[in-house]
Amino acid sequence: MASLHRPFVLLFALLLLFSGAEAQKRWTETEQVDFLRRHWDRPIPPQGRSPARFTLLEASLRPESCGTCHPAQLGDWQGSRHAESMGPGVKGQLVEMLATDPESALGCYVCHAPLTEQQEKVGGPGGGLASNLAFDAGLQARGLACPACHVRGHQRFGPPKRDGSLASELPRERLPHNGVTRTPAFLRAEFCRDCHQFPPDGFALNGKLLENTYEEWKASPFGRSGVQCQECHMPDRRHLWRGIHDPEMVRSGLTVGVSIEQEHYRVGETVRATLTITSSKVGHYFPTYVTPRVVVSGELVGRSGRVLPESRQERIIAREVTLDLSQERFDTRLAPGDRLTFHYRQPLPAPGLTLRLAVTVYPDHFYVGFFESLLASGAGKGAAQIREALRDARNSSFTIYVNEVPLT
Ligand code: HEC
Ligand code: HEC
Ligand code: HEC
Ligand code: HEC
Ligand code: HEC
Repeated sequence: MASLHRPFVLLFALLLLFSGAEAQKRWTETEQVDFLRRHWDRPIPPQGRSPARFTLLEASLRPESCGTCHPAQLGDWQGSRHAESMGPGVKGQLVEMLATDPESALGCYVCHAPLTEQQEKVGGPGGGLASNLAFDAGLQARGLACPACHVRGHQRFGPPKRDGSLASELPRERLPHNGVTRTPAFLRAEFCRDCHQFPPDGFALNGKLLENTYEEWKASPFGRSGVQCQECHMPDRRHLWRGIHDPEMVRSGLTVGVSIEQEHYRVGETVRATLTITSSKVGHYFPTYVTPRVVVSGELVGRSGRVLPESRQERIIAREVTLDLSQERFDTRLAPGDRLTFHYRQPLPAPGLTLRLAVTVYPDHFYVGFFESLLASGAGKGAAQIREALRDARNSSFTIYVNEVPLT
């Protein structure tokens, strides 16, 4: 056994040699919670002056600068929704809001562009708002970028190395951007909480918070057994954060099954089929937000591909709210482990028909109606951007499951 231990002793000695106390630092639960409270104090305070030895590249907050040395994370992030968080749907609303109600606009930046450098205005000395001298419009456009999660006061923060260790091989002052402060807080669901969970006194409808993802997760078998958000949304530490807009991701969370009572039907007989959809690997409600809509449908299709409209039956999985957020219409979302059973029953009107069972996702269902009504009531200077956002929202639907069964 002694020989097994030797490499560890050696490694430990090396770590001590190179990085002193940091190698021994252990983050207690309380220290991690405290770290996250400070880390997500927003707006994130201005980074201030960079250390004198930093090159311009090391001092830059732009994601492309980070990407010079971290190309894999840059490539992933660019395709993620986090990189789109100051897209036309948000910007289009903020133009007018900044003029008429800047306090509320700053409230949006808390999650959509949380660095002080991304905000036109800051709290002034005597209350009220003042122009922000550190404002960088280019950085604002990049949305939820690398420094929001990784940089405070020009210091880099990140997860432990993949082997769990906290120290670097070289003394920090010899590393680019003075190395990294590593903490296991990056591996916890609480790292994501502040933007994906309203506080207990936040906006609620029908007794339920409008955003409740963290609490849904915590109460689920995944939360209870310690499967963090990152394990599903950042597998292998990838920066993709795929969610309801990604067909593969949605499919990965569900189990869909179909059974049809008999192989052939005669005209006049009742077609009987059942589709079940089980939320097997979604770590919170499916879907967690009020904005998507999932439609489970059955319909009869003729040889030419024509759908018989009267044969269409559907069930909706969503938490649907009115556009003014004054009411919840219904909530049919699936909690983790829940199953929806859809019974299709329809007398067969003619020969040569096919039964098509499908599951279709409309990730931006709420926004389609919301942007339409915003344009109708006048979106002012933001109108062109809202029109663009409406186009995107209308085009984002996809089918995750389809099964076509000939009936005769
Ligand atoms: C000039 C190259 C360079 C630039 C520019 C750079 N980094 Fe780094 N970064 C490094 C190197 C080298 C390491 C590895 C340090 C170590 O071994 O401890 C590192 C480590 C990291 C880590 C820890 C990753 C790990 O391996 O566990 C994070 C997080 C990080 N950088 C974030 C950033 C962010 C965010 C930016 C932009 C604001 C940035 N870096 C810009 C070179 C760079
Ligand atoms: C600073 C705030 C903030 C933090 C921290 C944050 N997010 Fe997000 N996240 C957002 C915003 C804002 C959006 C919506 C962006 C958009 O589409 O405009 C989003 C979108 C997402 C989506 C995509 C949803 C979709 O519609 O497909 C996923 C998945 C996600 N976040 C997961 C995570 C995970 C996991 C973490 C923790 C590692 C995390 N987020 C941390 C603000 C944040
Ligand atoms: C607590 C964090 C949080 C705050 C505060 C917040 N959002 Fe979001 N926002 C999100 C998340 C998470 C999503 C992705 C989920 C969804 O679409 O519902 C999102 C999505 C959106 C989208 C749809 C995606 C897109 O990029 O077009 C718009 C538009 C939007 N938010 C606008 C706003 C506006 C305007 C405000 C301020 C009035 C605001 N948000 C405040 C977290 C937040
Ligand atoms: C929403 C927050 C968020 C944003 C934005 C973000 N990261 Fe990360 N990053 C994380 C988290 C969380 C981890 C640790 C994930 C894990 O271990 O599961 C991480 C890990 C890393 C690592 C270590 C990777 C490894 O293989 O060990 C690097 C390097 C890094 N990020 C760089 C970047 C760069 C560069 C950007 C911008 C292009 C960026 N990050 C944007 C949250 C973020
Ligand atoms: C067991 C895997 C798993 C875990 C754990 C998990 N998710 Fe998800 N998440 C998914 C899947 C699958 C989807 C796609 C289906 C959907 O949208 O519900 C998703 C979708 C999302 C979305 C898209 C919006 C929406 O309306 O569904 C967001 C945002 C999100 N997750 C955030 C989080 C956060 C934050 C955590 C941690 C508190 C977390 N997730 C934990 C699997 C997981």
